[in-house]
Amino acid sequence: MNWDETTDAAPDTERLVGASADHEDQAVEAALRPKDLGEFIGQEKVREQLDLVLRAARARGATADHVLLSGAPGLGKTTLSMIIAAEMGAPIRITSGPAIQHAGDLAAILSSLQEGEVLFLDEIHRMSRPAEEMLYMAMEDFRVDVIVGKGPGATAIPLELPPFTLVGATTRAGLLPPPLRDRFGFTAHMEFYEPPELERVIHRSANLLDVEIDTDGAVEISGRSRGTPRIANRLLRRVRDYAQVKADGHIDRDIAAAALAVYEVDARGLDRLDRAVLEALLKLFGGGPVGLSTLAVAVGEERETVEEVAEPFLVREGLLARTPRGRVATPAAWAHLGLAPPQGGPGATGQQGLFGA
Ligand SMILES: Nc1ncnc2c1ncn2[C@@H]1O[C@H](COP(=O)(O)OP(=O)(O)OP(=O)(O)O)[C@@H](O)[C@H]1O
Ligand SMILES: [Mg+2]
Repeated sequence: MNWDETTDAAPDTERLVGASADHEDQAVEAALRPKDLGEFIGQEKVREQLDLVLRAARARGATADHVLLSGAPGLGKTTLSMIIAAEMGAPIRITSGPAIQHAGDLAAILSSLQEGEVLFLDEIHRMSRPAEEMLYMAMEDFRVDVIVGKGPGATAIPLELPPFTLVGATTRAGLLPPPLRDRFGFTAHMEFYEPPELERVIHRSANLLDVEIDTDGAVEISGRSRGTPRIANRLLRRVRDYAQVKADGHIDRDIAAAALAVYEVDARGLDRLDRAVLEALLKLFGGGPVGLSTLAVAVGEERETVEEVAEPFLVREGLLARTPRGRVATPAAWAHLGLAPPQGGPGATGQQGLFGA
C-alpha cells in the first residue's frame, strides 16, 4: 500500500506552508490573480522595469522583447505572464517545458502563434535539448527549421514565424543554458515579499473572497507566510474556515493566531516538519554538526524530504546552516525553540564531528 507512487504531486504539496500549488490553490488562484501591473503588489523594481519595457513596445507599436521570470514557487511568475499579455492587449498561449518533449511539439505551437501573441513557457528549464535549440532560432530570428524526412534524405524547410513575445518562467534560473538565457531581452528575478506587502495581498484577497479581516489579523497571517503570496492566500483561507466555525467569521489577531495554532503553523511560519527537524538537531545532536541522513532518520523522514522540503526555509530564515561537516543550528534556532544553547555556545558540545555527514 503505497499511495505516494500513484500521485505525481511533489512531497510538499500536502503542506499548508509548502510553496507549490495544490488542487485547491489552482482553483482559487485564478480568481485572486491581479489583472494588471497596477494591481500587482510589491516587486517594485521588477514592476518599474517591466512597465518601461511594455510601454516602450506599445509606443513603438512593436511586440515586446522576450521576458524571463525567475524566482521561487508562488511568488507571482504565472500571474506576471498573464499581466504582460493583458498590458500588451495580446492573447496568451500557455505551455510548459515538460509538455514539450520533441522539437516537433514546439514547432507546432510556434507555427500557430498569431502576431504579437504571448507564449508563456512555464518551467522552461525542463525542456528537451532539441526543443531548446529550436527555440533559440525562433526567439532570435522568428524562424524555425522544420526537418522533413529522416537520415541522409532529410531536409530542413525554413518556416517564418510572426513576431511573438516569449515569457519563460523558472524556479531554477541557474539550470538554464547561457545561450537560452542570453536571448531574453529582459530578465526579472522575483524576490520573497516583505510582511507589509503580504498584508496588502491578504487584504486584497480577503476583499475578493468576501472575508472580513482587520489590520492585526492580516499582520498575524503575513508574518507566517514565508514571504510567499500563495502561502498567504492559503493561510487566509484556512483562517477563514476557523473563523466561520468557531466565531462569527470576522478575522482578528486572536482568531488568526488560534487558527494557525490548530494548523501547527508557528509565529515564524514553521510547520510541524520544520520544527521536528530543528528540535532533533538541537535536542538530540546538541545543535550539530550532524549528517543529513542521521537527521532524517531522527525525524522519521526521507533524506530528500528533509533536504528539499524543510531545509531551504530553515536556511533562508537563518535557523540552520549547511556545512561540509553537517547541519548546524544557529543561535537563532535555540532562541526560536526557547532552548538554552550548550555551554560555550551553539555546537560546542565537545563532540564535533561525532555524528558524521
Ligand atoms: N504580487 C502579487 N500581488 C498579489 N497577488 C499575488 C502576487 N504574486 C502572486 N500572487 C498570488 O499568489 C498566487 C500564486 O502566484 P503564481 O501562480 O503567479 O506564482 P508562480 O510564481 O507562478 O508559482 P509557481 O512557480 O508554483 O508556478 C496567485 O493566486 C496570485 O494571485
Ligand atoms: Mg506558475
